[in-house]
Amino acid sequence: ELLGEIPALLLSWYDAGARVLPWRENPEPYWVWVSEIMLQQTRVEAVKPYYERFLNELPTVADLAAAPEEQILKLWEGLGYYNRVRNMQKAAQIVMERYSGAIPASYEELRSLPGIGEYTAGAIASIAFQIPAPAVDGNVLRVISRLLCRRENILDPKVKKRTEEEIRKIIPKRAGDFNQSLMELGAMVCLPNGAPKCGECPLSSLCRAHTLGVEETLPVKAKK
Ligand code: ADE
Repeated sequence: ELLGEIPALLLSWYDAGARVLPWRENPEPYWVWVSEIMLQQTRVEAVKPYYERFLNELPTVADLAAAPEEQILKLWEGLGYYNRVRNMQKAAQIVMERYSGAIPASYEELRSLPGIGEYTAGAIASIAFQIPAPAVDGNVLRVISRLLCRRENILDPKVKKRTEEEIRKIIPKRAGDFNQSLMELGAMVCLPNGAPKCGECPLSSLCRAHTLGVEETLPVKAKK
């Protein structure tokens, strides 16, 4: 099936040229968690300096759990969406109490923590622990809707659910790298409106939308 050929192609592309990002070099669970919370509403380039400063000042879950509120808000100044860091501190306190400071290596336990939704739980589980969980965000939905040339509304939660289940079936051993290679493709190559770089895409020969020349009409996003 079409999707089955994706992991090997994407991983060799990722190995050959993915961006070197601080949280990719050493996927320590706390570092991955901080990166994924920052990346929820902020671009990679903007996140980098905040990420370095945050981990310099609060290098462990215990430090984050115990930090005064004014310190965490100051570290977040400029990133916006301050509930992200407030929730992350609440979650750090739970990790200290319930798990003795060790971030749980389970999708369900991660998902139960404040500020960790389905996407973020899948990203942390796969990147930090190699758990074969999908991590489907808007970028990944765009990639898959073009590959399969699906005209379904990607804002429909059922479409997201179905995409997660399809990806779950093909997740290889290198689960974290695979999920990040999908994100990377969406961020660097399979760009929205007017900008897809199909000439650089390792999947272009498999892509149904590209073959039909309709990549720019996808994905469909229809507010109900
Ligand atoms: N966006 C969200 N998570 C990401 C990651 N791990 N790498 C690149 N972009 C991301």
